[in-house]
Amino acid sequence: MPHQQMNCISSILFFRKREICSVTSTMALLYPATIMKLLLVLMSTLSLVDAAALSALICSHQPIVALAGDDVILPCHLEPAVSASSETVEWTKPGLDPEHIHIHQDGRLMYQNPSYNDRTILFMDELTKGNVSLKIFSVKTSDAGKYKCFLPFIQKEASIQLIVGESDVIGSHEPVTVVVGDDVILPCHLETPFDVKTLTVEWTYNKTIAHIYRNKKDDLVDQDQKFKGRTSLFPDEMTKGNISLKLTNVTEQDAGIFNCYVPKLHSQVKKGNITLNVEKKPGPVRRSQTDNDSIVGIVVVGIIVTSIVGAVLLKMRHDKGGQNMGNTGDCEENNPETVILNEEDISDTA
Ligand SMILES: *[C@@H]1O[C@H](CO)[C@@H](O)[C@H](O)[C@H]1NC(C)=O
Ligand SMILES: *[C@@H]1O[C@H](CO)[C@@H](O)[C@H](O)[C@H]1NC(C)=O
Ligand SMILES: *[C@@H]1O[C@H](CO)[C@@H](O)[C@H](O)[C@H]1NC(C)=O
Ligand SMILES: *[C@@H]1O[C@H](CO)[C@@H](O)[C@H](O)[C@H]1NC(C)=O
Ligand SMILES: *[C@@H]1O[C@H](CO)[C@@H](O)[C@H](O)[C@H]1NC(C)=O
Ligand SMILES: *[C@@H]1O[C@H](CO)[C@@H](O)[C@H](O)[C@H]1NC(C)=O
Repeated sequence: MPHQQMNCISSILFFRKREICSVTSTMALLYPATIMKLLLVLMSTLSLVDAAALSALICSHQPIVALAGDDVILPCHLEPAVSASSETVEWTKPGLDPEHIHIHQDGRLMYQNPSYNDRTILFMDELTKGNVSLKIFSVKTSDAGKYKCFLPFIQKEASIQLIVGESDVIGSHEPVTVVVGDDVILPCHLETPFDVKTLTVEWTYNKTIAHIYRNKKDDLVDQDQKFKGRTSLFPDEMTKGNISLKLTNVTEQDAGIFNCYVPKLHSQVKKGNITLNVEKKPGPVRRSQTDNDSIVGIVVVGIIVTSIVGAVLLKMRHDKGGQNMGNTGDCEENNPETVILNEEDISDTA
């Protein structure tokens, strides 16, 4: 019995196989060229899509810093390189209306926001190498912000930050005063609060170097000996354009003018300056005198408070006595009076 069943199945399978086989062979006989063509197209598209899909769109993670009037390149490229010359490349600026900065299609600029007319290009030779960088000529302060590059053919998107530095470096108009031995913060920030962590920040004192930050870290090789180990910036604040310097254990020799400076912004921006006044440590005699002064102050205040409280208590007691005396018969006459008074109060405040 089981033998028979097995034969049956195998024969069916065999039959199906033969059937399928014969169908394909007829098709191949009828349309051999078409099938070959289809297969080839399928294979080539698959491999193309695969190669492109593997590519990453990489834009500079560091903001691009420029001064108003400069030409800038917003660098973005495909890695590994795939030609984008016959593809659509979309550069946009989110928030702008319309947000299109440069829409490249069919090998040419198709559309852009009028404010970028004649100010942008893609590099045609570079596109074939997967370099989709955008060049903007003569940047304006209003060009600053986040740009997006989108490649529909591989559905890849990346963004890049443009900073247009017309920012002043602002020190302090008021001198900063500190007592010898104390720590002090010399305030300085950029007018436009942008991240300076990728830039160079310099603090100088009388033409000597008080502190230098570059390549994303403090670089104190050239620092003046007298500031060794006493200076620091605030990394978290630097992302907001705050380049204030902390100076510890201040000495009398620190008094003078400090300059804060971001060289990248050099041509446009003046150095910020901060005058540091250093006061001598107050002597012990003076200190005890001030202590006495505050003690005297506390005593005086105490006396005043006590006398006010006393007076109020006295008055309250006095008023209460008076009310009790006249309360016997005038109760009903007194009540309307208080009501009227209250009404006056309300209309006054209203
Ligand atoms: C892309 O092209 C621009 C303009 O020629 C060039 O500055 C940049 O270095 C290129 N980027 C790469 C990754 O080749
Ligand atoms: C600044 O440095 C010069 C020498 O380089 C010195 O003569 C001058 O006294 C210094 N000024 C201050 C305020 O330290
Ligand atoms: C900069 O940072 C310092 C230190 O945290 C802070 O004291 C100062 O207020 C900040 N300045 C500005 C303008 O935010
Ligand atoms: C502060 O500086 C003085 C000399 O200028 C030094 O004697 C002292 O040890 C320093 N204090 C600290 C806490 O570094
Ligand atoms: C310091 O900066 C102010 C403006 O903030 C400027 O008027 C002044 O001339 C500067 N002083 C020095 C010594 O650079
Ligand atoms: C201030 O206090 C000191 C002791 O700390 C004392 O000798 C002195 O007499 C006090 N002066 C006054 C005005 O109270």
